[in-house]
Amino acid sequence: MSTTVRKTDSRSTDAESAGARGAANRACRIPSLGLREKLTALPEMRRDQVAFLSKAIDKYGDVFQVRLLGNPMVMINHPDHVHRVLVENRENYDKENFLYRTVRPVLRNGLIGAVGGESWHRQRRLMQPSFHRPKISAFADTMTEETTAMLRRWEHRYRNGEVAAVVPDVGHLALRIVTRNLFGADVGPTTEAIESDFTDANHIMGEYFRFPFPPLHWPTPSHRRLHKLIANLDTFVGAMIEQRNTRSDGSPTLLSILADAVDEDTGHRMDAVQLQQEVVNIMVGGYETTTGAASFMLYLLAKHPEIQERMNAELVEVLDGRVPDFDDIAKLTYTRMIVDETLRLRGPAWQTMRRAVGPDEIGGFQIAPDAGIYINFFTLHRHREFWPDPERFDPERFAPRAVAERPRNTYIPFGAGLRVCIGKHFALTELIVIAAMIVQRYRLGLPDGHPPIGMEQLVTLRPKHEVLLRLERR
Ligand code: HEM
Repeated sequence: MSTTVRKTDSRSTDAESAGARGAANRACRIPSLGLREKLTALPEMRRDQVAFLSKAIDKYGDVFQVRLLGNPMVMINHPDHVHRVLVENRENYDKENFLYRTVRPVLRNGLIGAVGGESWHRQRRLMQPSFHRPKISAFADTMTEETTAMLRRWEHRYRNGEVAAVVPDVGHLALRIVTRNLFGADVGPTTEAIESDFTDANHIMGEYFRFPFPPLHWPTPSHRRLHKLIANLDTFVGAMIEQRNTRSDGSPTLLSILADAVDEDTGHRMDAVQLQQEVVNIMVGGYETTTGAASFMLYLLAKHPEIQERMNAELVEVLDGRVPDFDDIAKLTYTRMIVDETLRLRGPAWQTMRRAVGPDEIGGFQIAPDAGIYINFFTLHRHREFWPDPERFDPERFAPRAVAERPRNTYIPFGAGLRVCIGKHFALTELIVIAAMIVQRYRLGLPDGHPPIGMEQLVTLRPKHEVLLRLERR
């Protein structure tokens, strides 16, 4: 059912929007897709979710309803609306929703997947100190050490000017960085199997989100495969936990903090199942996303040689050929702008959902209790009001002045509010280190006729095609 709607000005001031919320009787019904669009929504979402949503935004604006096989969702695409859900009225929104139900077989009750409430809060409090600045500073050393080792392998493996598919190496690097830093575990050189298991699980769940039939507990071949992949992941993580148990040296890692933590209320330790789930969540958060982001970033740098050369000039000025240390990271301001613009254009965590626990009003629209709220960072980061020529790769958008002039929540690749990414500074440091050390060593180019790389719209966003880079030594 489609309703004609008078939208309130979604950029109204807080006072105005509070006033609007008070006047519930003036709130509007949410527009919903027309009959023909409803009928084609499923195949169109399946073919190209971004194209489908972008078309709907063009037609219906910043708030509208979509229904996927009985799963109704209210899409919101304005920074103020996102602010309302993730920050201002966050207590009213949890993760009991269709997207998180889809990924819960993998994430279960770990930090990313947890619905919310006190048990999530306790786990977050426990883990937060492992991501504080002094820790990240120590992690930066492992990041540079691992990147140096990767570059040494490249030097032996590739001739000057050779074209190579380096994304798998970058994925492996990200996995080693997260497991060494957070779990004190050395996963060894042969992790291809677990890395491709991650990608396969990402595929199956992404496909299910766009076409949610048959239910995940039905034993279709792909659902059986998903359960096998989860079992593989559990075995891998179990071995890592074992490894930690047999090591007694060094300062505590996140893994030992979790394993040794005692619940203030019950006096109990975290049980083995919960510990395993937390580790899986950190791996999913720390591996999949960074791999996707780093791959897109290297591709974009190769595609834009003038931006790459400006970045190299900064590297020469700040580092003068040295390996960066943690204090250098803050000085690499242009490199950081490149990372930010990559995450705007191709942020790997590209969508999220919340469930409205009670009623609310967003931008003048009534939200019913139990409604699923869908936020797509990909479309949000292209909102025409805030991002001129949104498809252009332009790091200048993140020059300090431009950032200061943009309203809050126009750019949130790590989410916002209480459930903002715990690994945000870890990831930013890692992406800067990887980009800086690669560009310092190589001039990246694309081979002649390299097709534009598409994106696979999975649970996370990944490059669709193999990224081939020409590696020319500087
Ligand atoms: C470019 C890299 C990354 C991006 C774009 C990213 C993005 C996000 C986003 C958008 C969320 C919020 C999801 C929501 O609100 O529904 C999130 C949550 C989370 N991320 Fe990341 N992330 C990245 C890297 C990492 C890393 C490196 C780690 C850990 C080492 C990590 C661990 C987590 C965890 C545990 C949560 C759940 C936090 C909570 O709910 O308390 N992420 N991430």
